[in-house]
Amino acid sequence: MTTKYLSGVGLGLRREMIDELLPDIPSSVDFWEVAPENWIPLGGKFQKNLQHFTKMNNFVAHGLSLSIGSPDPLDINFVKEVKTFLDQHEILYYSEHLSYCSGNGHMYDLMPIPFTEEAVKYVVQRVKQVQDILERPLVLENVSYYAAPGQEMSEQEFTLSVLQESGCLMLLDVNNIYVNSINHNYDAEAFLEAMPSNKIVYGHIAGHYDETDTLKVDTHGADVIEPVWKLLEKAYQVHGVFPTLLERDFNIPPINELLLEVDKIKQIQQKFCTKKLKQYSA
Ligand SMILES: [Fe+2]
Repeated sequence: MTTKYLSGVGLGLRREMIDELLPDIPSSVDFWEVAPENWIPLGGKFQKNLQHFTKMNNFVAHGLSLSIGSPDPLDINFVKEVKTFLDQHEILYYSEHLSYCSGNGHMYDLMPIPFTEEAVKYVVQRVKQVQDILERPLVLENVSYYAAPGQEMSEQEFTLSVLQESGCLMLLDVNNIYVNSINHNYDAEAFLEAMPSNKIVYGHIAGHYDETDTLKVDTHGADVIEPVWKLLEKAYQVHGVFPTLLERDFNIPPINELLLEVDKIKQIQQKFCTKKLKQYSA
């Protein structure tokens, strides 16, 4: 099987899950997400197992360290390694965060890019550079942020400008919209409606941490809450049903419990899917 299509529901694949998942890969998961930087340095058994997995299943790559908005130069060698990884596993889509995580060294956190015209121009030329090397469109995710340094435009205007001017595609994270809408006091549905339907390749949904009533932290460490499920329904109403992946990085329950939330995504998709599921192909 080639990994040219994304549809249905997805789940992140971590190295420690592989032994639990093989040989009976859950058929309810339609596609899997891997972080290339967690796999590129590995050899032997891990590569063999991943190859087995990617041959049999649909995959998307979700990077952690591209750092598209960083003041540091792009790490061209790293981008070339990502391209080799994508080609080797026949993965069409590589998504990353519309943020940065380096600047004079790695920061291991997602930092907000200033919402300015200058930053739009800067990010757009870097996206084009990455797309030229990858020979694929880059897919950028709307991220959660907790400060907006030097803000000249809204998050919505900034996100739309980067998407339109760079020609990249979008990973729509509904939990990030929810978290940001509370932390920065805006209308989550209005933001959602403004996003370009024709650019959404797939979506993320996740749980978060309630620090206070007005401060939510995007942890991926809890179950998805009801208002976020409702926002996913709204997203399907507005944009059509798109492939959607459950993110869970901390307090990870057994796979059978994770699959209950995956099934819930599927049920919502079926509720809104009067036509064929939205599907991206090469
Ligand atoms: Fe996400």
